[in-house]
Amino acid sequence: MKQVVKAPHTLDGEVSLPGDKSISHRAIILNGIARGDARVSNFAQSADCLATVACMRALGVEIESSKGGLVVKGVGDRGLKEAEDVLCAENSATTMRLLTGLLAAQPFLSVITGDRSLRSRPMDRVIQPLRLMGAQIWGRSSDSRAPLVIKGGQLHGISYTLPVPSAQLKSALLLAALFAQGDTVIREPIVSRDHTEKMLRATGAKIEVKGDTITISPSRLKAVDIIVPGDISSAAFWLVAGVIHNRANIRLSNVGINPTRSGIIDVLNSMGANLSVENERVVSGEPVADLRAQSSQLSGMEIRGELIPRVIDEIPLIALAASVAQGKTVIREAQELRVKETDRISATVKELLKLGADVQELPDGMVIQGRKKLRGAACESHGDHRLAMMLGVAALVAEGETEIDNAEAVNISYPRFWQDLKRLSAAKL
Ligand code: S3P
Repeated sequence: MKQVVKAPHTLDGEVSLPGDKSISHRAIILNGIARGDARVSNFAQSADCLATVACMRALGVEIESSKGGLVVKGVGDRGLKEAEDVLCAENSATTMRLLTGLLAAQPFLSVITGDRSLRSRPMDRVIQPLRLMGAQIWGRSSDSRAPLVIKGGQLHGISYTLPVPSAQLKSALLLAALFAQGDTVIREPIVSRDHTEKMLRATGAKIEVKGDTITISPSRLKAVDIIVPGDISSAAFWLVAGVIHNRANIRLSNVGINPTRSGIIDVLNSMGANLSVENERVVSGEPVADLRAQSSQLSGMEIRGELIPRVIDEIPLIALAASVAQGKTVIREAQELRVKETDRISATVKELLKLGADVQELPDGMVIQGRKKLRGAACESHGDHRLAMMLGVAALVAEGETEIDNAEAVNISYPRFWQDLKRLSAAKL
């Protein structure tokens, strides 16, 4: 599907965001292996999270739709059953990596695959530490690619330092550790999103976090109801749209602002954005707030180090904001972007160049010279949801028309994105 977008005169309105994708996956998986029933409200009804639901159902967990969410009927720690067929994680690395950790500890055989993009993404980062725990897992191309064959069995705890700050890898090991003999100790080079740790604590797991070190003991979980906050990674598109459009006022209610995820707010504030964060509160153990983004004059900045995992999914959008900001922005140490749904460094540079931005590719990031007037062009999402939405936001400030090919990629995390964009564009400020 092709989407054509023209810059509107004004951008105004309130957006109700889809539920957080990372939290939705975890709410289904952890409640699936817990004892009892749990209601998951505001569950992200997007393709990635529905892939997790389908896999958990195939493993014997009953999951029913209910008003405003899902009800998960946990099977307990020994209740999962061998699936009759190959499990399919579709485009979702979170589904594949978390389930690989879980399935490595179950007493049966599993095969898990995904779409062409997911089958090209590295899985050795999960397979290697799981093997140290005693797991038997095989993949294609020196075990770094799916489909994966997992012969589950008894695991033992390990002490392990993650080679990359990855919440998917960390969560895969935490899930395996629930069933292992002895404690597992995980150290992170830089702290990544901690939704799994928070939810494990809420479901009664024996887990302790001290700085960059997590210690987890084998545990049985009890079901817990979860109200999923709005996804800050979806909110980020409207935050950037609001601050780069010159007649904008966008309100976002009920957005998760977990500090391991909220780097986009800090980056935009450092660039001089007119953002407000109000009504801070805690919902189901996660910090939540209402946000507002208004037209701003942005300046460039340097982004690297500890900030990177906190903005990892928002970097294409930051590159867009930097293209229209005053001065230079440098993004370094973001090489993980090359192994996302697409190579997000090369795809972002390629598409922003088409729109007239001044962006240079680096092996681990980008250099952007700002203050460029973007002009509409024929662009391509590369089948990547975050690229499709970043280009939709770019089109809101570009001269003339922008055409985005493969625009349906938004279904991965934000199926209503194009409707929300039209609604905000139609408003009179
Ligand atoms: C996610 C972790 C991040 C992120 C992805 C979701 C998660 O990936 O980019 O969109 O839910 O754990 P990595 O673990 O590869 O950094």
